[in-house]
Amino acid sequence: MLNPDQRAQFERDGYLVIPAFKSADEIARVRARAAEIVNDFDPTQHRSIFTTRDQLAATDDYFLRSDNTIRCFFEEEAFDEHGQLRQDKSLSINKIGHALHDLDPVFENFSRDPKLAQVARNLGLKDAQVWQSMYIFKQPGIGGEVGWHQDASFFETDPITVTTFWFALEDATLDNGCLWVQPGGHRGPMRERFVRSGDDIKMEKLDSTPWPDSSSAIPLEATAGSLVCFHGLLPHYSAPNRSAVSRHAYTLHATDASAEYSPLNWIQRDASFPVRGFI
Ligand code: FE2
Repeated sequence: MLNPDQRAQFERDGYLVIPAFKSADEIARVRARAAEIVNDFDPTQHRSIFTTRDQLAATDDYFLRSDNTIRCFFEEEAFDEHGQLRQDKSLSINKIGHALHDLDPVFENFSRDPKLAQVARNLGLKDAQVWQSMYIFKQPGIGGEVGWHQDASFFETDPITVTTFWFALEDATLDNGCLWVQPGGHRGPMRERFVRSGDDIKMEKLDSTPWPDSSSAIPLEATAGSLVCFHGLLPHYSAPNRSAVSRHAYTLHATDASAEYSPLNWIQRDASFPVRGFI
């Protein structure tokens, strides 16, 4: 699937953009399914979370219970000071996570793709294990910033193997909050580790190497249908979306079964719901 130049580029830069990887039909199917999930989502219960004194604990609990289920999360700026949605519910959801690829047939079909399995093998995942899926909306006007981070912080293995598969479901541009990356930055250290102990979660600082800035980071604009693959240590970021158009994307995170998966990672699976590969 990948030619030697593409493999060399991934090794050198820590990322690779493959245009026209998914067809317009495939994209239309997952977009329609995401709209259905949001339509069926009753925000009443979750909205109350934003008004309780225990907001942090309740928010953490809602997040933690989404590890092996399908839940919707609001944009931070979705609500006004009275707790009312600023815009329609369909334009207020930040993301859906985190087991769409295993629990929803439409997303399973999109994610378990022999072509994708081949790309993963070409990038070094001999026996891929797909831990997480997210549908990210980056809504018009209120789409939130995602600060600089490395995905390996969330899916640590020894050695590091986590690879991100990021599908542009709409054109991602500078205006609507495309990805920014630091070419070659995957050769730097892991700066943070997100650890879970029961229902406690925290981010541990591991290394003081600064995050990239505009002198070393570049924007990755991508047309709808493109697949962006990147190394788990590649620092990346996306800006808020203040434009009038959304920037939908779908992501998968996979590690290699030959590497030891940290028991501190926030998503764990057992025999009742085993982790699976791309096919
Ligand atoms: Fe990320």
